[in-house]
Amino acid sequence: MNKTFYITTPIYYPSGKFHIGSAYTTCLCDSIIRYKKLKGYDTRFLTGTDEHGQKIEEAAIANNKSPQEHVDYMAGLAQDLWKQLEISNDDFIRTTETRHKVVVEEIFEKLLKNDDIYLGEYSGNYCVSCESYFTPTQLVDGDKCPDCGKTTDVLKEETYFLRLSKYSDRLLNYIEDNPEFIVPETRRNEVISFIKSGLLDLSVSRTAFSWGIKVKSNPKHIVYVWIDAVCNYITSLGYGSKDNNLYQKYWINGDEVIHVVGKDILRFHAIYWPILLMALDIPIKFRLFAHGWYLMKDGKMSKSKGNVIYPEHLVERYGLDAFRYYIVREIGYGNDGVFTPEDYVKRINTDLVNDYGNLVSRSISMVNKYFNGSVKKTNHNHEYKVFEEDLEKVANDIFSKYQKNMDEFKLSNALQDISALVKRTNKLIDDTFPWELAKNEDLKPVLESVMYHLVESIRVISILYLPFLLSAPLDVFEFLGVEEDFRGFSNIEFGTKLTYDVVKKPKHLFPRLDLEKETKVIKELMQSDDSDKKSEKEVIKMLPEIEFDDFTKIDIRVGKIIEAKKHDNAKKLLVFKIDTGDRIRSIVSGIAQYYKPEELLDKLVQVVTNLKPVKLRGELSEGMILCGETEEKTLFVIEVPNKLQPGDKVS
Ligand code: MSP
Repeated sequence: MNKTFYITTPIYYPSGKFHIGSAYTTCLCDSIIRYKKLKGYDTRFLTGTDEHGQKIEEAAIANNKSPQEHVDYMAGLAQDLWKQLEISNDDFIRTTETRHKVVVEEIFEKLLKNDDIYLGEYSGNYCVSCESYFTPTQLVDGDKCPDCGKTTDVLKEETYFLRLSKYSDRLLNYIEDNPEFIVPETRRNEVISFIKSGLLDLSVSRTAFSWGIKVKSNPKHIVYVWIDAVCNYITSLGYGSKDNNLYQKYWINGDEVIHVVGKDILRFHAIYWPILLMALDIPIKFRLFAHGWYLMKDGKMSKSKGNVIYPEHLVERYGLDAFRYYIVREIGYGNDGVFTPEDYVKRINTDLVNDYGNLVSRSISMVNKYFNGSVKKTNHNHEYKVFEEDLEKVANDIFSKYQKNMDEFKLSNALQDISALVKRTNKLIDDTFPWELAKNEDLKPVLESVMYHLVESIRVISILYLPFLLSAPLDVFEFLGVEEDFRGFSNIEFGTKLTYDVVKKPKHLFPRLDLEKETKVIKELMQSDDSDKKSEKEVIKMLPEIEFDDFTKIDIRVGKIIEAKKHDNAKKLLVFKIDTGDRIRSIVSGIAQYYKPEELLDKLVQVVTNLKPVKLRGELSEGMILCGETEEKTLFVIEVPNKLQPGDKVS
């Protein structure tokens, strides 16, 4: 039976469109899983979206949407993006799905029952963006989050705690006994020293907002989004449900489980997740690979800096192979890397156009010119044999080196191995001067052997590229007439395929890019992005029909704004007091970027009054002001003629 290999990406927050950072993790995993498939593993690949929590709730409100509407839309965008990048995931888990929610509820209850979770009170500084509490010593400049730099809120709430302290020694022993559990080693050391500095019990429920999985036995509490999230790795396999075959196969009886995560979310995976598993009496089957970050010249990518680059723009202009190649090649193992438009263009021109693409077209054209398209493995004793033997050795050695790198998740190094073979193959042309050999009929067998070595090496190179480039190697196999059997690892050894019949005119694999022009184009792409606006409109048009009865369930009333102010802790929010006839309501709305509070004072507006109240950054919101949205995504409050009074019904 084949060994199993289960790989996961983190599940992404669907709070905004995914940039190349999210694509990096996902492409890494996709290349790893494609490699494992080539090795004959029985594989499973999971990705998904982490849809609960205050951050999502606020992003939804800021877009004037319900959280569910918001996450449905964003999860759709995520899935479209992964399709476009041809990510080969077997499952896509959304934490708002019933299959996940019911199991998380049960997990929480089980931990409560076993006294691994207990009720207490927490008071401290909370960062909504990172969904985490920080102690005074961890805060920066008094009240700023040490991870993202945003201002934290002081919160005091009744909360459940997970007994991290109880498991701390066991975890430390586990990490020390299993040196491969967390890689690279620097990250492992970070985790060890974090644990040694002392683990405090972790607050694992929230009461300040409502968008999340409720604690079954005490529904005013919402399960902490990180506890909810990490469970996806097993809920998606059917843990805790009747049909748990996948869980049995890939987790319990599985051979390898790898969670690939960014360095920023190491603690959650290296400490909280294994402790949860210990408390649940589930074996820690997984290993962690923590990678670095894609940064921009001016630091982190952010919409407000105008330095974000989205994968779809690069794919649309330069093709999927080029994008997938760049993203995995540019960052070294475990390190950070900087995205620059110049590097993007140069990397493609150098590795794909000049080296691989050129080798393929030169070789095919020579095989056509000198041998009318057909060559076979031949023998000779010419002095050039040493060059050929050297190439054979390099190819076979590189395959071992490449496998070692791939097995250790050093994907960029593996790509460099392939590049080295491409270069060595190109060098055979420089070593043997085929155009000179062609002048002497007696040297025909030598020329044929050189040609054979070129195409055989291109075959090997193309197999090695299969986990990364999705079209070019397949095109090359077609150009060279490589049969299915010779397209995989089992026959990769140099000299296995004996004859070649190549096409007359192969199409161009990678067009050369004009450095100056394309650098400018990418810079422009980084500044303008309206693609999400257009598609969001399309999605809205596609909302399904509803019954008239459903429509009448929405109570819309005329309201008069009698007080308006900025929210103390959230830039995007305004806080209103609105007279809706029945009473004065407090309503929070995400329209601070479109209106100054005083502009709306005394206005008559339309208010949905029977929405379930929510707390937004500590402010109660008991309804929703209706707005219209332009193509450019500017919101306008829909005003009401002054013949109408507060409390009048809108229908
Ligand atoms: N929802 C959590 C993960 C829960 S997993 C149980 C989360 N989501 S995230 O969307 O903020 O980040 C997801 C992943 O994207 C993280 O691994 C993070 O490191 C990665 N990246 C986000 N920006 C990145 C770059 N600029 N570069 C590389 N990876 C980055 O955290």
